[in-house]
Amino acid sequence: MALLAPSILSADFAHLAEQVQAAETAGADWIHVDVMDGCFVPNLTMGFVVVEALRSVTRLPLDVHLMIVEPERYVERFVAAGADAVSFHAEATPHVHRTLQLIRSAGARAGLAVNPATPLDRFEDVLEELDLALLMSVNPGFGGQRFISRSLERLERLAAMRDRLNPEARIEVDGGVSPANAAELVRRGADVLVAGSAVFGGGRTVAENLSALRDAAQA
Ligand code: DX5
Ligand code: ZN
Repeated sequence: MALLAPSILSADFAHLAEQVQAAETAGADWIHVDVMDGCFVPNLTMGFVVVEALRSVTRLPLDVHLMIVEPERYVERFVAAGADAVSFHAEATPHVHRTLQLIRSAGARAGLAVNPATPLDRFEDVLEELDLALLMSVNPGFGGQRFISRSLERLERLAAMRDRLNPEARIEVDGGVSPANAAELVRRGADVLVAGSAVFGGGRTVAENLSALRDAAQA
C-alpha cells in the first residue's frame, strides 16, 4: 500500500489549517511541505514558521521537501520546527552525505531528491544513509505541471537499486501524480505518492480527490 502525501503547495493558504485537517480526516498519510528559495527554483514559498504552524494543527508526519541552495545550513532548524522527514536536492549541495547525517542526527527521516535530468547514480553511494529517495517527475518549482513520462523508467531503475542496496528506504514520487498514473507508479516501485493539484485542485472536495487517488493507487 503506497502512502499518500498531499502537497499543500496547491492548497488554499487563506485556510491552510482547514485544508490540512480535511486531508487528515480523508486519510492522508503525510503532509508534504514544499520549501522554495527563489534561487534553486524560480519560486518562493514557505519556511520555518509555516512548518511550526502546521505542527500545531495536525498529527500527521510533516514531509518537508527543500528546494533551496545549501540545504545543510537549514535542515536542523526544519527538524526543530517540527519536520518528521526532510528531503533536499542532490543538485543543491556538494555535501550530500553530510547533510543526510545532519538530518538523521537531528532526529528526522533523511531524504535525497533528484531533478528529472539528474543521473540516478547520485543515489548509489548514499542509499544506506537515507530513508527516502525522492524522484522528481516534473521540474521542481510549481504545482500543476505535466508528469514527465520518462520518470516511469527511472522509477523502475531506482526501485531495483533500492532493493539491492537498502530495502528499508522508501521511494517517493513527486510531480504530476494523479489517479491516471497512480497505479502504474505503485506497480513500478513507488512507496509514497506526493500530489498537490490532484488533491487540492479540480473543483472537487479534498475528500473526493483523495479517495479517487487512493482507489487508483490500490488498483
Ligand atoms: C513541485 C513540488 C511538488 C508539487 C507537486 O516543485 O515539489 O510537491 O506540489 O504538485 P502537483 O502534484 O500539482 O504536480
Ligand atoms: Zn515536493
